[in-house]
Amino acid sequence: MARECVAPGHWRMRLHAPDIARAAIPGQFCMVEVSETLYPFLRRPMCFSEIHDDGVSILYKVEGEGTALLAQRVPGQKCSLQGPLGNGFPVDGSFERHIIVSGGIGVATFPALAQALVGACQRPPEVVLAARTRELLLCEDLFKGLGCTVYLATDDGSAGQKAYAAGMLERLNPGEATRVYACGPMIMMRTTAAVARRAGANCLVSLEAQMACGDGACLGCVVESIEEYEGEKMVRVCVDGPVFDAAIIDWEAHNPAYDL
Ligand SMILES: Cc1cc2nc3c(=O)[nH]c(=O)nc-3n(C[C@H](O)[C@H](O)[C@H](O)COP(=O)(O)OP(=O)(O)OC[C@H]3O[C@@H](n4cnc5c(N)ncnc54)[C@H](O)[C@@H]3O)c2cc1C
Ligand code: FES
Repeated sequence: MARECVAPGHWRMRLHAPDIARAAIPGQFCMVEVSETLYPFLRRPMCFSEIHDDGVSILYKVEGEGTALLAQRVPGQKCSLQGPLGNGFPVDGSFERHIIVSGGIGVATFPALAQALVGACQRPPEVVLAARTRELLLCEDLFKGLGCTVYLATDDGSAGQKAYAAGMLERLNPGEATRVYACGPMIMMRTTAAVARRAGANCLVSLEAQMACGDGACLGCVVESIEEYEGEKMVRVCVDGPVFDAAIIDWEAHNPAYDL
């Protein structure tokens, strides 16, 4: 295990895990053991930020107790991963335009996807990189290195446009031949999905939820959907997702206060 601090409270960890790297696809995740003791007992879900020949990288934000302990692990230490889990992003080169929209640490899932899209599509994806402030804009050089056009947006205007992620997407005029990929806070994904829907674009979202088991058994990660799955209007983020077509999520149930 090797690691670096990429912004205040944000870490990139590279793990040697050839078996997981061979099986993983962009958008999938793993359950990470955050401490060498039995406390905290539950693993934490983290997506694969990059997939290398011999392992994977994880990009994470210290959120609570588990991720704070993870940040204390030192290079060379072992770290147990369970994965790959979940469904991952479909990579479909038949769309004319691919626009990645990331908010905050939601960016973590996108470097691996951008790399896959570059390999499969006629033109590299465009990337809207949005965060609260300049120092929290992550991976800009990585996306540019892949040939992506990167649009920066910050809530406070300290870098790029003073705008929210969905507003930046609207300025890029997505159309019916566009596929949008979004990951970030729930309200950001909801507003991004609304912009894509109005434009007639296809939109995929990578959802986050608290997870205990990661394999569909505990129902701790359910999210309301508008379609019935096995008799319930619920989907499990861990096994039915984390990537979903935005059109099947019941956004109203998550942010009812927002009128779009
Ligand atoms: C698919 C997926 C991918 C993710 N990828 C990333 C990533 O790449 N980078 C990143 O920074 N973050 C990612 N996250 C978010 C990350 O998992 C959380 O920030 C992290 O779990 C917080 O853990 P913590 O102990 O620091 O925080 P805390 O809030 O202290 O603890 C949260 C954890 O407590 C447990 N928990 C709490 N309540 C319940 C409950 N009711 N039922 C079951 N378990 C409970 C769960 O294990 C939960 O993960 C991802 C989340 C998902 C779902
Ligand atoms: S985390 Fe247990 S069902 Fe999804």
